Amino acid sequence: MKSYNIAVIPGDGIGPEVIREGMKVLNAISVRSGFKLNFNLYDFGGERYLKTGETLPEGALEELKKYDAIYLGAIGHPDVKPGILERGILLRIRFELDQYINLRPVKLYPGVDCPLKDKGPEDIDFVVVRENTEGLYIGGGGFLKKGTQDEVAIQESINTRKGVERCIRFAYEYCRKRNKMKKLTLCGKTNVLTFAFDLWERTFYEVAKEYPDIKADYAHVDAITMWFVKNPEWFDVIVTDNMFGDIITDLGAMIQGGMGIAAGGNINPQGVSMFEPIGGSAPKYAGKNVINPLAAICAGGMMLEYLGEEKPAYLLERAVMEVTGKYIKSLSAGQMGYSTSEVGDLVAKFVTQFSIGVTQKL
Ligand code: IPM
Ligand code: MN
Repeated sequence: MKSYNIAVIPGDGIGPEVIREGMKVLNAISVRSGFKLNFNLYDFGGERYLKTGETLPEGALEELKKYDAIYLGAIGHPDVKPGILERGILLRIRFELDQYINLRPVKLYPGVDCPLKDKGPEDIDFVVVRENTEGLYIGGGGFLKKGTQDEVAIQESINTRKGVERCIRFAYEYCRKRNKMKKLTLCGKTNVLTFAFDLWERTFYEVAKEYPDIKADYAHVDAITMWFVKNPEWFDVIVTDNMFGDIITDLGAMIQGGMGIAAGGNINPQGVSMFEPIGGSAPKYAGKNVINPLAAICAGGMMLEYLGEEKPAYLLERAVMEVTGKYIKSLSAGQMGYSTSEVGDLVAKFVTQFSIGVTQKL
């Protein structure tokens, strides 16, 4: 029997609760589909940091590299200064495992309330390919005369030809494989960021020549935020840098119904990838069994797809759609009409019942 070794980092706040439901669903689907998932838990996160002063212990990254995938809950603790855990755990894994793609689908499922007037599931179905190892996130820059009236703060955006090109290539390939509108939009700011996005734009149109079947399209980031609200149906696949990708995917999450459903994958196509719900640790809901686990469950589905278990991944998505379409009242914490664990039970039940006949992605 095929088996996969998964490192699980439940993390902080609601992380452990939603990851538990994700593992429940993944276990159910693996039994039905005939493969095995070996989960190995790691306690990285705020609690461990407060006890030991350590974000990632010595050797942790080397150990993580040996797994087939990593399944992450949430990182962020109210008693830890912002930045320490994010940089020390989340960004460190993304960077050091060279997970250079952050893949974030924006898809409105049936039954989910959309804040946009007159828009439905047929209008909102696109994917953002966010560069995940460069740009403003590398921590380049520094202070001069810190704390004085003459203070200077510099934060540099690093964009390498190699980094930009591999991200853009991934996006073209993904768009081709997705086979929907076959349109790839570069989200940039070529009118102001005339160095960084000059490189992005040149690379984008150069690589476009190798993909005559894909329509290469461009939009400025500010305009993109406008179109997400006004005409989300225009988009198929969007490629962008780290910072813009971070910002537009929160807006994307809102138009697909909120953080309760938004999942993402930190992908290294040649290495170990990490899958996570994109909402934070939501400490005020921690331990209450009220948070929505669907984002974590969907992240588990993305993980299956990347492990090559495509049919089980589609099945998981169908089961989620059944739950959003016919069961839960709202995606918001405490308003689902079900508890966190009951939502997990429902999805686990449907992945078991539905497993015959689902062979393709919707
Ligand atoms: C995300 C988060 C992270 C990011 C933070 C927590 C560092 O907002 O995954 O989108 O900015 O990438
Ligand atoms: Mn973000």
